[in-house]
Amino acid sequence: MKEPLNSAEAPITQKLIKQISNVCFSVFVFAVLIITVIAITYQPPDPWLESAPALTHLFTQVENATFKDDSSVLKTGEDFSLPPALAPSSVLQPITETVIANYEHNLTSNATLGPTACAEDLEDGVNCSDPRVLIAIERFNLRLFKSIVFLEYSTPVNGSKPNQCDVAWKFRNRKEKSWRKYRDFRRFRIGLGDDCAYKVIGASGWHSGVNARRPRPRPTPANRNPKISAPYRDSEINDTIPKINSDTNFRRGRYLYYSRGGDYCKGMNHYMWSFLCALGEAQYLNRTFVMDLSVCLASQYNPSGKDEEGKDFRFYFDFEHLKEEASIVEEREFLRDWKRWDKNHKRKIPVRKVASYKTTPMQLKKDRSTIIWRHFDAPEPENYWYRVCEGQAANNIKRPWHALWKSKRLMNIVSEISGKMDWDFDAVHVVRGEKAQNKQLWPHLDADTSPEAIVSKLQGMIQPWRNLYIATNEPFYNYFDKLRSHYKVHLLDDYKELWGNTSDWYNETTALNGGRPVNFDGYMRAEIDTEVFIRGKTRVETFYNLTSDCKDGINTC
Ligand SMILES: *[C@@H]1O[C@H](CO)[C@@H](O)[C@H](O)[C@H]1NC(C)=O
Ligand SMILES: *[C@@H]1O[C@H](CO)[C@@H](O)[C@H](O)[C@H]1NC(C)=O
Ligand SMILES: *[C@@H]1O[C@H](CO)[C@@H](O)[C@H](O)[C@H]1NC(C)=O
Ligand SMILES: *[C@@H]1O[C@H](CO)[C@@H](O)[C@H](O)[C@H]1NC(C)=O
Ligand SMILES: *[C@@H]1O[C@H](CO)[C@@H](O)[C@H](O)[C@H]1NC(C)=O
Ligand SMILES: *[C@@H]1O[C@H](CO)[C@@H](O)[C@H](O)[C@H]1NC(C)=O
Ligand SMILES: *[C@@H]1O[C@H](CO)[C@@H](O)[C@H](O)[C@H]1NC(C)=O
Ligand SMILES: *[C@@H]1O[C@H](CO)[C@@H](O)[C@H](O)[C@H]1NC(C)=O
Ligand SMILES: *[C@@H]1O[C@H](CO)[C@@H](O)[C@H](O)[C@H]1NC(C)=O
Ligand SMILES: *[C@@H]1O[C@H](CO)[C@@H](O)[C@H](O)[C@H]1NC(C)=O
Repeated sequence: MKEPLNSAEAPITQKLIKQISNVCFSVFVFAVLIITVIAITYQPPDPWLESAPALTHLFTQVENATFKDDSSVLKTGEDFSLPPALAPSSVLQPITETVIANYEHNLTSNATLGPTACAEDLEDGVNCSDPRVLIAIERFNLRLFKSIVFLEYSTPVNGSKPNQCDVAWKFRNRKEKSWRKYRDFRRFRIGLGDDCAYKVIGASGWHSGVNARRPRPRPTPANRNPKISAPYRDSEINDTIPKINSDTNFRRGRYLYYSRGGDYCKGMNHYMWSFLCALGEAQYLNRTFVMDLSVCLASQYNPSGKDEEGKDFRFYFDFEHLKEEASIVEEREFLRDWKRWDKNHKRKIPVRKVASYKTTPMQLKKDRSTIIWRHFDAPEPENYWYRVCEGQAANNIKRPWHALWKSKRLMNIVSEISGKMDWDFDAVHVVRGEKAQNKQLWPHLDADTSPEAIVSKLQGMIQPWRNLYIATNEPFYNYFDKLRSHYKVHLLDDYKELWGNTSDWYNETTALNGGRPVNFDGYMRAEIDTEVFIRGKTRVETFYNLTSDCKDGINTC
């Protein structure tokens, strides 16, 4: 049931032929040319259907289709090599050796600098604002952190000792296929090399350069891209809810509105699969999607073991990015504007109600109603949103995976954890939980993920005493203690302070939640575990590496 990729444009083309007059014919030819080029180069496979053949199997058996997603690796848009999301205009160029060498060349040829350092007495301390200090630090970082793309440095400032300099920079991780930037600041000890040039003789860890922490408002020599001026601060993640503003704007819009369906309170993979179907239909119809930001988190992710309503989409996903990628309006805003319009005007807003998913998106394409309102009142499984995208519709609707990224607030925790290990770690994903207990579907999983079995398996794959990050749904913290005599073991719970009540995450999510603290739940844990795992150098998966059992139960692989 792979989504066909090439046929979407053909019917549109035929319709266009009928509509466009001869005058416009050359425009049309040009458009077809472009569409053809796009069709050839732009063929995003649906990432899940690519990566998890077993899901295909699930979707062909739509009856009671459930998504067993309690322990899988949770991939979202930033993890796939999809057509890159449109980067904002402020995307920075990586600082490579070429860039540094150019800068150095300009510096020396202009001779605005003092004599080289050997002539001075370093006992007075290093002049951290000397551009040559920054160059030494940039080279040092490039050599040390190969998995990082450095984007922008601030001018180094004094550390706590005369030969120390603190410097901050923005970076991306090569493993993340988004343009999002993260921030680090470290402390460096500066000395002199044989050639009298500055040299880094030591560096401290993640976020050690506290004097450089404050973003500097002024552009600096290090800030070589003159277009960038505003400092990047994450307290400014802008995931406010957009407003429609005025009655006329509201009336002019075209909306696609989905009532809550049977998807509510199902697992998160089911949620994404359905949500992206709806968003894909909205894009196909060239309509604004009316979005319910309130999410029901299924029991398997909740410490309480119960479904919990009233979770905010923004706890889990990047709403700012979604706003940039897709046309959406928040449900409550939308309903308020709709009511207000109908109260103030004799002519009501035209609404087309659609009772069943069996009315296809293609049948709605020509509908001019302001609002198309899909209802999902049939009994399960007839009331799942994603059923709209089945059958013929699958040829026309593409799920916009690139619009769905993980929450930047969670990704900051991911950077923090991998940064604390200097991005130099290996990772193992250990699936246990319900699957390990279900001997019928996964007969060997429990034994193959016992501490002894993991130790003996890993010894052939990972060098002793490496940093080893264990992504797992095993709740017992000491379960992996046997590995500690071979590796430097890191578990998510070792980093509790990153979401504890003194953390940025806590502060920001509390604010988002109207002042009430937000539980750090199992889905957030799984998102972070996934992303840290992906950043590991050697990655060992449970299925295919630790055990020969199949991911989705016996005989599914
Ligand atoms: C689907 O689930 C319902 C209740 O959850 C059950 O009554 C029904 O038998 C199931 N159908 C199939 C085909 O498994
Ligand atoms: C060096 O100077 C040239 C012009 O002389 C300029 O184009 C280039 O951007 C400069 N390079 C850096 C890294 O400042
Ligand atoms: C010297 O500096 C000026 C700006 O101060 C710059 O425009 C010029 O390109 C530099 N010269 C060289 C040779 O890089
Ligand atoms: C930084 O250190 C140097 C040398 O130790 C000193 O001369 C300078 O005043 C210091 N600058 C600041 C801003 O403290
Ligand atoms: C440090 O270097 C900067 C840039 O070269 C220079 O402007 C400044 O005067 C120097 N400060 C000291 C104390 O030497
Ligand atoms: C946040 O984004 C909205 C658009 O979604 C924009 O209207 C608003 O000005 C932005 N706020 C800030 C502080 O950038
Ligand atoms: C999509 O809708 C917008 C405004 O609602 C309109 O400007 C645009 O021309 C439409 N595009 C297509 C392909 O229909
Ligand atoms: C934070 O949590 C700790 C332990 O859970 C508690 O003792 C402390 O009072 C809390 N602080 C705040 C500001 O809530
Ligand atoms: C978050 O921190 C800022 C400053 O550190 C503080 O002013 C604000 O009240 C905090 N917000 C919450 C919800 O704790
Ligand atoms: C895990 O299994 C996959 C598929 O068999 C293989 O490509 C990969 O090299 C294995 N990983 C390790 C660390 O051995």
